[in-house]
Amino acid sequence: MNAVVYLSYTGNSRKAAAYLARRLAWPCLDLHELKETRFEHLLFVAPVHAERLADEALSFLKEADVEEMILVATYGRMNHGNAILDAQRKFRLPLVGAAYFPTRHSYVKADFYEAPYGRLDDLGNAFGKGRYIIVPESKDTFGRGLFPKLRARFAVHISVSDGCTHCRACEKACPFEAIVDGKISHRCIRCLACVKACPSGAIDFRLSRALANYLSKPKSEEVLVYVGSDE
Ligand SMILES: Cc1cc2nc3c(=O)[nH]c(=O)nc-3n(C[C@H](O)[C@H](O)[C@H](O)COP(=O)(O)O)c2cc1C
Ligand code: SF4
Ligand code: SF4
Repeated sequence: MNAVVYLSYTGNSRKAAAYLARRLAWPCLDLHELKETRFEHLLFVAPVHAERLADEALSFLKEADVEEMILVATYGRMNHGNAILDAQRKFRLPLVGAAYFPTRHSYVKADFYEAPYGRLDDLGNAFGKGRYIIVPESKDTFGRGLFPKLRARFAVHISVSDGCTHCRACEKACPFEAIVDGKISHRCIRCLACVKACPSGAIDFRLSRALANYLSKPKSEEVLVYVGSDE
């Protein structure tokens, strides 16, 4: 089977996956509803969380049985670290292509950045040539991936307001069963899928001053695309 599969909490990876699936004329499948782990050609799109691929993406990559894979890591224009290379080393991924792709940042409310989807146009051509690649090392930052859940818990505060209609859309949207009766438990990774899903804007988030300062820094719009060459 050939497919584009995505993991997406706030919609950015889903949009990039939908764009790529349209170009390839392949099915576009949500990882949360996936029944298959065996693929001939797999294009997988997933977000960077704390400069690593999100945990659910790593769990999937550990299990997936794939002949040729292209991995696209969407990032919020801060730092993607070595998210793809780390996953490739850990799971010996059969990559024929890869990309770090800039998007809106999940934590920046007024981020109107338009992701440059056209820059991914040639990526799908890398399938079927048997040219496997090793993704180059990119610049690193101190503290990469250290206690990401703990850092997120202190830096992002989620709350439910009086406007809540108890529709439970947020509970259904949470992949971690972290909301029960409007209470957010320790299982929460601050992915914001619940905020995105709420039809009445009753669940919202607030950032610590330190994180807000960090996110106000100039952002990188670097698109890095890697495919095998003819030599
Ligand atoms: C928990 C969490 C951690 C994140 N860490 C980073 C990061 O280290 N660097 C970065 O540039 N963006 C970071 N982001 C932003 C996301 O990578 C970016 O918005 C991504 O496109 C979200 O994808 P999605 O909308 O498909 O969930 C983070 C977002 C979340 C929710
Ligand atoms: S409760 Fe936490 S883990 Fe669940 S969707 Fe909301 S932010 Fe994500
Ligand atoms: S989705 Fe919004 S309105 Fe519905 S239960 Fe959750 S917070 Fe309340």
